[in-house]
Amino acid sequence: MACTQIIGTGSYAPSRVITNRELEQRVETSDSWIRERTGIQERRQAAPGEATSDLAVQAARRALEMAGVAPEELDLIVVGTITGDMPMPACAAFVQAKLGARRAFAFDVAAACAGSLYAMSVADQFIRTGQVRRALVIGAELLSRVVNWEDRNTCVLFGDGAGAMVLSPSEEEGRGILSTHLFTDGALAEILTIPGGGSRTPMTEAGVRARLNTLHMNGREVFKFAVRALVDSTQEALAAHGLLPGQVGHVIAHQANARILDAALERLEIPREKCWLNLHKYGNTSSASLPMTLDEAHRAGRLKRGDVIAMMAIGAGMTWGSAVVRW
Ligand code: ACO
Repeated sequence: MACTQIIGTGSYAPSRVITNRELEQRVETSDSWIRERTGIQERRQAAPGEATSDLAVQAARRALEMAGVAPEELDLIVVGTITGDMPMPACAAFVQAKLGARRAFAFDVAAACAGSLYAMSVADQFIRTGQVRRALVIGAELLSRVVNWEDRNTCVLFGDGAGAMVLSPSEEEGRGILSTHLFTDGALAEILTIPGGGSRTPMTEAGVRARLNTLHMNGREVFKFAVRALVDSTQEALAAHGLLPGQVGHVIAHQANARILDAALERLEIPREKCWLNLHKYGNTSSASLPMTLDEAHRAGRLKRGDVIAMMAIGAGMTWGSAVVRW
């Protein structure tokens, strides 16, 4: 079966920078603590009037331009996000309208930080079956709106941003997305949640006061699980194609924490230099992180035709997965 190729990438980060030093003024933390524990130096914050679809559209336009694809040529838009413009309708609907992608059907995928990998996998299946020829996959998050800015355990970690990819059927056998491998363990759902605002706990004044509408995380549990899960799924993905770690040219990973990535890469026996890092600039941008990273590496001229790319991402759910792409 023919592969799906990534023919364009784009990303967008809002201009407002929040440094670790600025966070020192808001919560009891320090630049050195944040750098040492996470690798993050600064993150971006969207302007008050910006919504997630605005970030998504900026990234999408850049990806479409690179691909030479007009919005009207798109058949499908999938947005990975947990911070859409509204609970309903999907963020993808706003993106479709703003781009003028009239022919595209559009929907969101809620897989948190693994959202863009899940979205890419969904679009890949539509293309492989021939139902779709041009797909736009976006990861976009406005996490600054769901972070508790008084909780030092979480507010130092996250940032706003968007990344996009344009997918189309590959013109060359064996070039493109070779496979995606997705996993979920719902038994771990409670270690990373936004507990309020859904059907279980609709938002009330008391709920807002208790910050139930913000992110709650057991960082240590997430850390431990993330390393194991990323290693297992990437090993499975490489083994599916008989690839050895030494044959991986690049790792494009969700940027949660430099220490998570270091530990995973060490176990995978893949040198750190092969992993493009940008979390020092953007923090954890959840689903945006993987396509933003891909776009940066691509625009920097790092990805050469035929290179093997191992993608990996993990997020709330827990949801995680890996993909192997031949560029
Ligand atoms: N500044 C200073 N001290 C802090 C801060 C902070 N920003 N945050 C927590 N601390 C304190 C804690 O309160 C704790 O203090 P205590 O010992 O007095 O209770 C101490 O630092 C140590 O806390 P730990 O949780 O043990 O610190 P750890 O080394 O585990 O680092 C961290 C915490 C960075 C959150 C880590 O667990 C981690 O990276 N986990 C992964 C979380 C993650 O990446 N989540 C992203 C979402 S999911 C995803 O994208 C995969």
